[in-house]
Amino acid sequence: MKDNNKKVYVETYGCQMNFSDTEIVMSVLSDYGYNETDRIEDSDVILLNTCSIRENAERKIFNRLEHLRNYKKKNSNRIIGILGCMAERLRVEIIEKADFVDLIVGPDEYRKVPQLIENILETGEKGIAVKLSKIETYDDITPVRKEGITAWVSVMRGCDKFCTFCVVPFTRGRERSRKIGSITDEAKKLFDEGIKEVTLLGQNVNSFNDGGRDFSDLLRAVAISVPYMRIRYMTSHPYDCSPKLLETMAEFGNVCKYIHLPVQSGSERILKLMNRLYSVGQYLKVLNLAKKLMPGIGLSTDIIAGFPTETEDDHKLTLKLMEEAEYDGAYTFAYSPRENTKAYNMEDNVPEEIKQRRLEEIITLQRIISLRINRNLIDSTKMVLLENISKKSPEFMMGRTDCNKTVIIPRNGHKAGAFVNVRINNANSATLFGDECLIN
Ligand code: SAH
Ligand code: SF4
Ligand code: F3S
Repeated sequence: MKDNNKKVYVETYGCQMNFSDTEIVMSVLSDYGYNETDRIEDSDVILLNTCSIRENAERKIFNRLEHLRNYKKKNSNRIIGILGCMAERLRVEIIEKADFVDLIVGPDEYRKVPQLIENILETGEKGIAVKLSKIETYDDITPVRKEGITAWVSVMRGCDKFCTFCVVPFTRGRERSRKIGSITDEAKKLFDEGIKEVTLLGQNVNSFNDGGRDFSDLLRAVAISVPYMRIRYMTSHPYDCSPKLLETMAEFGNVCKYIHLPVQSGSERILKLMNRLYSVGQYLKVLNLAKKLMPGIGLSTDIIAGFPTETEDDHKLTLKLMEEAEYDGAYTFAYSPRENTKAYNMEDNVPEEIKQRRLEEIITLQRIISLRINRNLIDSTKMVLLENISKKSPEFMMGRTDCNKTVIIPRNGHKAGAFVNVRINNANSATLFGDECLIN
């Protein structure tokens, strides 16, 4: 470990993979003596770990960069770096629009960040490293995590699915998996450090493959290695969400009964154009098996409104599927054309106001369904893992159920990390409210 006393300020955008990667970057940097700071004014290095998934996400970063220009002006020795998916996709545009950016590093080159920074300081040359790797998994790097009671554990990287709307296969490269042994070791270590819940992360965890052992083998191994820890995972692609995986989930009490299973659309024709590889019927079969094996399982999904050529009938099929699936929650997006993807060559022919209107209808329907499900939980008792003091009031604590429902209870001296039995007494579409109770 070197000591250079330099301070790094980092902002992370995008999905959990990016948040997990920031912990890896901070680990690499801390080996060279860098410390993290929350105060941008004090920083020697400013890093933005960026997302390219939709145009909005990229626009946000370019706006942020305009603001950061001032920080560079105040201290020209301060290094400004772009990491993540935008670094991979838009390195030329970033330098054109923001010539003060010193460092551009893609998701597979984070080991190089310290040397690149040193080189910038010595030579003044920009540091650019954006090669994608077929093997990099950062398996040997212990992420530097912020204090808390939950942790992300990245288990695989990249994506080979090539859904026609999605940039991830281009920004993150090919699929590759960590070793099961190193993941279970990490989980055990986290448990010893007081972590109560881990989420196994990957763009498509169902493609996990460690020498022929698949994701359900990994889930089993983790569940056995940390029997008193809650285990979640995301994201699984419906195409290869196998009965074996659902059976493994059902078998272990410490594997949370919650699955995020992005459907994207309820129209057969649109699913084909998206290259999602499943039909509505196959999707519902997976969902129904999950519900049968794990009654009461928490379900969520991702939906895109206004994919090229989507008609009013296609949209209605999405609404119909939502009714049938009865999701607890949905992450919903207006289609955003992304250069280099296949869908980019299809005409983005759903007018913006129609996209937005369809999106609104999807959001409204989901709110109704979520409220119905949540109100049905009133008077039931749930085991809640307390995570934090409520953002809205210090008198309350926030926690989550096994099925991933957010629950608010009076603080009453409780501490984060406690498992508490809660009698639910109120609910809205996003949150359950309750009081501790002593019986099960
Ligand atoms: N790997 C995950 C999804 C990662 S991206 C999976 O396959 O399920 C998260 C979500 O962003 C996607 O599920 C999709 O709903 C949305 N998304 C991705 N590309 C998009 C685009 N071009 N426009 C709008 N939404 C998009
Ligand atoms: Fe993107 Fe599809 Fe891969 Fe998910 S599975 S990351 S949506 S290409
Ligand atoms: Fe965004 Fe990259 Fe994640 S595009 S959603 S940060 S994989």
